[in-house]
Amino acid sequence: MKRKLILDVDTGTDDAVAIMLAALHEDLDLVGITTVNGNAEVHYCTDNSLRVLDWIGKPEIPVHEGCFKPLVRNDFPVPRSKGDLTEKIHGKHLPLPETSLKAQEQHAIEYLVETYRNTTDPITLVPTAPLTNIAAALAVEPKLVDLIPEVVIMGGGHDVGNITPSAEFNIWADPEAAHAVFNAGFEKLTLVPLDATHKALITATQCRQFQQLGTPAGTAMADCTAHRIGVHDKIQRMDIEHSAPVHDAVCVAYLIQPEVITLERYPVDIETQGALTVGRTVVDKAHRGTRPDNCNVAFDANAALFVDIMMKTFAKTA
Ligand code: RIB
Ligand code: CA
Repeated sequence: MKRKLILDVDTGTDDAVAIMLAALHEDLDLVGITTVNGNAEVHYCTDNSLRVLDWIGKPEIPVHEGCFKPLVRNDFPVPRSKGDLTEKIHGKHLPLPETSLKAQEQHAIEYLVETYRNTTDPITLVPTAPLTNIAAALAVEPKLVDLIPEVVIMGGGHDVGNITPSAEFNIWADPEAAHAVFNAGFEKLTLVPLDATHKALITATQCRQFQQLGTPAGTAMADCTAHRIGVHDKIQRMDIEHSAPVHDAVCVAYLIQPEVITLERYPVDIETQGALTVGRTVVDKAHRGTRPDNCNVAFDANAALFVDIMMKTFAKTA
């Protein structure tokens, strides 16, 4: 049986790749997409998600728009400053044609609650964006912690931040929501932080190989990632020259081949107060605190396997 999943996204150049991988891989069944305020205002994220689905010929996958602001803050990540890091990496619109596809009427929170209440099959939840929708859905239906078999989150960073010295964007953009999710009591919580995604870099040479596939997914992957490489080269250089992480797709690759990341189990919590550290994902690697282990955290990734999974999947759509 195919593994069912819901993606919660702020599409976004790397969310776009995650959507394509989830929608096109033969072992996965992408049952729905929910969108949230993050890389751009939520209506752009919704439109971008629809553009991706249209471009790869998957118009039947429903998209439900979700929260337009963080749970409690009015200033994260808005007001947005023109030309900031997220705008440079993602822009407002993806480099894909406009679409006539429309989002569903039902709000993302209602969709999540109703889908998990009614499903008889396990559906993995994969948030690759600020956790606002997930925290709000949990507030409506706390039983989601029992109804969702695994939550696989792209977010956080132990040795590295990208929006502040301490914090990664998805967690920083709604720290109260992230705090609620990490403290909700999910049986299986898997975190793919920057520490792992920065080890699964895509190079400019590989981008050209994706382009040469000649498929819609191959060209979209190449265009989105080449843009990311250009921005990373200028403002956030990676260990490998002319390369960039495609963070969100690593979570989907993990569902296909779990060995693409290496997991270790630790207590994880979110800082919501610190003047310098708000939005920090605190991974207690030395077990200095009193909290029990609650999360499987990826500290390493197999870049070659990650590329191989995507290359094979995106080649098939010609
Ligand atoms: O920090 C990387 C994450 O922030 C990715 O999910 C990216 O899409 C942005 O949301
Ligand atoms: Ca994202």
